[in-house]
Parts: sequence; C-alpha cells; structure tokens
Amino acid sequence: MKTLLIATFLSTAILTAPSLCAGADDILIADFEGETYGAWKITGDAFGPGPAHGTLPGQMMVDGFKGKGLVNSFFKGDGSTGTLASPEFRIERRFIAFLIGGGKDDEKLALQLVVDGKVVRMATGPNGSPGGTETLAPEAWDVAEFSGKDAVLRIVDDAKGGWGHISVDHILQTDTKPKVKLLLKDAERQFTATSRYLHIPIKNGAPKRVVTLLVDGRRVVRNDIELADGKADWWAPMDVSAWRGKSLTLRVDKLHEDSTALSSIEQSDAIKDADNLYREPLRGQFHFSPRRGWNNDPNGMVFYNGEYHLFFQHNPYGWGWGNMHWGHAVSKDMVHWEDLGDKLLPDDMGPMFSGSAVVDWKNTSGFGQDGKPPLVLIYTAAGDPTVQGIAYSTDGRTFTKYPGNPVVKQITGGNRDPKVMWHEPTKKWVQVLYVEWQKKHTIHFFTSPNLREWTLASITEGDAVGKPYLFECPDFFELPIDGKSSNKRWVLLGADSQYAVGTFDGVRFTPEQAHLPGHRGRGFYAPQTFSDIPKRDGRRIQIGWFQTETKGMLFNQSMTIPLELKLTATVEGPRMTFTPVK
Ligand code: FRU
Repeated sequence: MKTLLIATFLSTAILTAPSLCAGADDILIADFEGETYGAWKITGDAFGPGPAHGTLPGQMMVDGFKGKGLVNSFFKGDGSTGTLASPEFRIERRFIAFLIGGGKDDEKLALQLVVDGKVVRMATGPNGSPGGTETLAPEAWDVAEFSGKDAVLRIVDDAKGGWGHISVDHILQTDTKPKVKLLLKDAERQFTATSRYLHIPIKNGAPKRVVTLLVDGRRVVRNDIELADGKADWWAPMDVSAWRGKSLTLRVDKLHEDSTALSSIEQSDAIKDADNLYREPLRGQFHFSPRRGWNNDPNGMVFYNGEYHLFFQHNPYGWGWGNMHWGHAVSKDMVHWEDLGDKLLPDDMGPMFSGSAVVDWKNTSGFGQDGKPPLVLIYTAAGDPTVQGIAYSTDGRTFTKYPGNPVVKQITGGNRDPKVMWHEPTKKWVQVLYVEWQKKHTIHFFTSPNLREWTLASITEGDAVGKPYLFECPDFFELPIDGKSSNKRWVLLGADSQYAVGTFDGVRFTPEQAHLPGHRGRGFYAPQTFSDIPKRDGRRIQIGWFQTETKGMLFNQSMTIPLELKLTATVEGPRMTFTPVK
C-alpha cells in the first residue's frame, strides 16, 4: 500500500512541474499502513521488519498516530538502533507535515530532511527524561526554499537506554499551512499562592505536556498532563497550600501559541464544579473513590491517632493511570471517608508507587517527636533505578520524606510494593518486597532494627514471570486458626490474592500450602491489610482496588469495602475467609 503511494507520488512528481500555488492537492509521502516499509531502506533492527501497529511489547500506550500503522523504533526495546530512509522525492509543496513522538535527542533520535546530501531540517520526539508520553504530535517544516529539489527523509535511532526510540507517522507535502500552530517551548506563568488550589484544565485524550511546578524558582514536582488548550473537560485541583504566599511558576514544555491552558488557570480554596460531588451517577456510595482523577491500589493502610488512614495510588491530573501520587483519606469507621488530597508527590527518584505504613511505637526510627510515635510510610520510587523510600509524620497530616532515601536500593528493575510489619518475637521490622528474580516472581524478605537500614533475610518464590502467583503488592500477616491464639499461621499473598499459609521465624517463611485461591470477586486486585489495628479489636482488615471503570465521570476506579479476614480450619487445611467488616 505504501509502496503504491510512493509510486503514485513519484509519477506525479515527474509529470507536474513544481508548484507552490496554494490549493494544490496534498501529496502523501508515507502513511505506514502497509505490512512492510516498501521502498524505504532499513538498516539495523530498531524499526523491525515493517511498520508497528501501535504499541509494542513493554511500551507505554502509543497514541496520536493515524490509521493502524506507524514507524515505532521501540522494536526489541530501547536498546536497538537503526535507520529508515525514504526513496528520493521532489519537494513540490510549501510544507512537509508529519506526526512525531518518542525520545528527545537532536542527533540520535531524529526525522531528517536531506537535500543535496545535507540535513536541512530536523525534528525529534518530546521526551528528554523519565516519565513523559508516547503520544505522537503534529509538526511541520516550511520547505519553500527547497522547491523543485530532490530530497530524502531519514529516520534515525542511534539511542539506547531510557527513551531510546522515536515514532513517526503520516508524512505529507502540503500547501495548506498545517494546523500545527507554533509550539512555544517552556511556556511559563507565575502566581503568588493565595489559595489552596490551582485549577489545571484537562482535556481527556489531549497530548500530554510536561508540567513542572517551581516554588521560589526551585523545581517541586513534574507531571505529564493532558492539558486543555481550549475548553476543558474538567479541572484538576493542584494543591499548593503548602506554599501559601510564595511565588509559584508553572512551566509547560510545549504549548500551542494560542493555547489558553496557562491563562485559564484560576486559584480558589474549593475544587471546581463540586455541586454534584459524591452524588455523581456512577459514584459508589460504599466504595471509596477520589474526588477527581484516577486511583488504583490502596496504600499505607494504618490505624493512627484514632483514625483509619487509607492512602492510594492516585493520578490527580488524569482520568487514566499516570503521575503516581499517594492520595490520602481518613475515616473513623472505615465506611465514611474524608479525602484529604495528595501526600506523596513524584520526585527526582520517580513516581510514588505502592507501599505501606506502620506506627513506630518504640520510635526505633528516631522520627518521633515530643513522645509522639511517628507514622512511617514505606513506598516505591519508580524511577530508574527503582528504589524503596520512607516518609514520616507525627500528626498524620503532613509528611516528610527521609533525606537518607533510598532505604533499599534497586535489586532488579521493577522491584516494588514494600509491605512492612513489626515482628515482636525478634523485635525487628520485616519488609516483604516484590522482586522479579531469575525469571520468577519472588518475595524478598528484609529485616530492620529502625526502618532505615534493611538487610535481606530470605526469598520466597512464586510463579514464573507471566503467571500471577506472588506477583506485585505482597502482604504478609499472622492469623489465628478459628480464633485460637495458640494455633496461628502466617499468610503470604500477592496482588491477585492467591496466597500461601505457613510459618515464619523472623527470617524465613516456610509455606505449608501454596497457590490457594483468594478473593474471587470481580476486579479485586492489589489488596492490603491495615497495620496497627488496636489489640482490643484485633481484626485483620483488608481493602482491595476495585477495578470499576467510570466512563464520563471526573474520577475513575474505586476501592472495595473493607473485609475482615479469618483463617478457618477445613479438612484440606486452613483457608482464608472474607467478610464485610463490622
Ligand atoms: C499494581 C501496581 C503496583 C505498582 C502500582 C503502580 O496495580 O502495578 O505493582 O506499585 O500499581 O501504580
């Protein structure tokens, strides 16, 4: 199909004299809809045998391209390199327009226009650092000065490592000034923080822009946001109350010249369009969900200072997954929750992935104050490397990240989701961490005297990678069988809730039975149990991510109702039961 298009174009090129008069039909150079690249010449392996059909394995979702196919040099991942060169064509229109995405590197990741053996125009992708977006965006070159000349387009991927790939689609010659408005680089707006929120305009599905918040000139947080250039679908509240009176700068990596994204931002103390809040048609009334944006896993569930705390994986600036913050809600009864906003923000170590919380009663960490035991959060900072960090609070409201982070360095890429508990017999903290290790899911057990220094104690193996058992979000706790404190077992489970029952000596978990099916309700995933439920209560209470897509709402997903877990003796051995909490 593509070869045909080039052939058509070449014959047109031969027959028609070069013309720059407006109104001439567009000439498609390539739409990459065929099975192969046709007459384009390939070197190396980055571009694969033919155009990609969207996202490649292991890649974030690619969108913004036209039709089904595109050039995507993520073939075999970021490590592969190569070039792709078009057949020669004649420049016959004023503009060359195209869609481009991927990594940013003027030399190593480029779409080049070559005339008389020289690179005369160049474009690269938008992503210069971890995070970012795989969305292709329109760009164009004014090539009037080369009218009538022969040219070649060359796509180069000479980059390895993070964002070592480029994507290109739908290249055409046109006389109509492409709708690509001039892109302003690093557009900025200054504010003095007078209110709690800056309201960020969101258009679902718009290209993601890198939005950086600076406070008194210092970079605080970076998010990838589907900014609305014009009318917003909704307004995401960005909580700036911590910087009241200070000078804030919002910087956007790229903005169209007539974008109203920055000028439309207002400040106020209430979230926008909240008349209907919690009464929206798809708002579960027994299931927690954030006021705005996306949630996935429950995190940091703990009872502290008379309140149940529920942190959660939150994208405050999108309806879909991304920009992982720890949202925060509290409750006195686990049924009525108050959404307090975001507590852990992405930082230079990466987005804030799942983790847990404990009350450090003996102040082993030294983070306590005036005799108050600290609440300590243990989380994954999912940058490159991906590491484990801690943060603490003595009021359950404001949290400080430990300056000595990380507390556990990367073992293998993608290690994540620390769940921590106090082990009274050995008087140590125990951490279970998901680690992909020698092509298997494993749970690495660490111990620590103080939550800051951790030593590997043992490893429990799950399924081979690709299968679910002991994959991500582990939890580990002890339960009495049929309520008898003289007969207890430890339970180890992964995100899909399959579990093992066994014994634990403070170092090693010895399963007696494994691969036991857990909760089988719809969309139940990544559950976690509360830490520090008072002894007089003694229940083990679990909440899972409830995968409920809420189309058309300003929030997406929710949490399951809290469940009380028990171990019950059966003829086949002890089994977990799940009961809605009292
Ligand atoms: C599970 C999970 C975790 C990770 C988090 C990121 O749903 O993939 O393993 O920490 O989500 O949001």
